[in-house]
Amino acid sequence: MATQRIETAEFLLGAASLAQLPREGLPEIAFGGRSNVGKSSMLNKLTGRKKLARTSKTPGKTRELNIYKIDNRMIIVDLPGYGFAKVPDSVKEAWGQLVESYLNSREQLVAVVHLVDARHPPTKDDIQMHEWIRHYQVPALIAVTKVDKIKRGKRAATLRTVRELLKPDETTPVVFFSSETGEGSKELLGWMRESAGLL
Ligand code: GTP
Ligand code: MG
Repeated sequence: MATQRIETAEFLLGAASLAQLPREGLPEIAFGGRSNVGKSSMLNKLTGRKKLARTSKTPGKTRELNIYKIDNRMIIVDLPGYGFAKVPDSVKEAWGQLVESYLNSREQLVAVVHLVDARHPPTKDDIQMHEWIRHYQVPALIAVTKVDKIKRGKRAATLRTVRELLKPDETTPVVFFSSETGEGSKELLGWMRESAGLL
């Protein structure tokens, strides 16, 4: 049921390459977005487990694909964050290759949650990420996160900017989210379950 909470969430492993990903065929949902945008916080909020995924004020904490098993029925993949200026180019390139090949070739992948920061217009890297999502035709939801940090009156303009720059296709929902208030959690979880064929 769409409104049902997550009962169990278990960290499986941090994968530095696609070969290390689990072989069992559970449907997978990936969380992608800039470093520090709030991917790990989103996972913690959805699972109700404050310390399941490591969060940090220092961007670039998550360097691997962190794999979590949810209710023994689906997998959430917390992707390494992109766009962190202090990372050497070689690391950025490796990240790009890992994420692009994951989006391109991972059979278990059923959908991506693409997180963007409500406080800033999407960056070049956000646009690149969304181009990959569209190119590889991965069903997506755009979560405009940290929405607790912007004034209500700015929401409409924020939504317009996100749509203009990322050019999501018509099937891609754009949802306001906050790991502080929990706004958007129910909708997101419902969409994830539906994407995973669990409704
Ligand atoms: P990387 O692992 O570096 O890619 O970052 P991440 O996307 O996992 O971000 P993370 O969840 O670690 O959050 C980064 C910082 O933003 C932390 O200080 C969080 O507390 C804060 N943060 C995340 N989500 C929200 C939100 O919805 N609202 C507010 N106000 N702060 C948030
Ligand atoms: Mg993280």
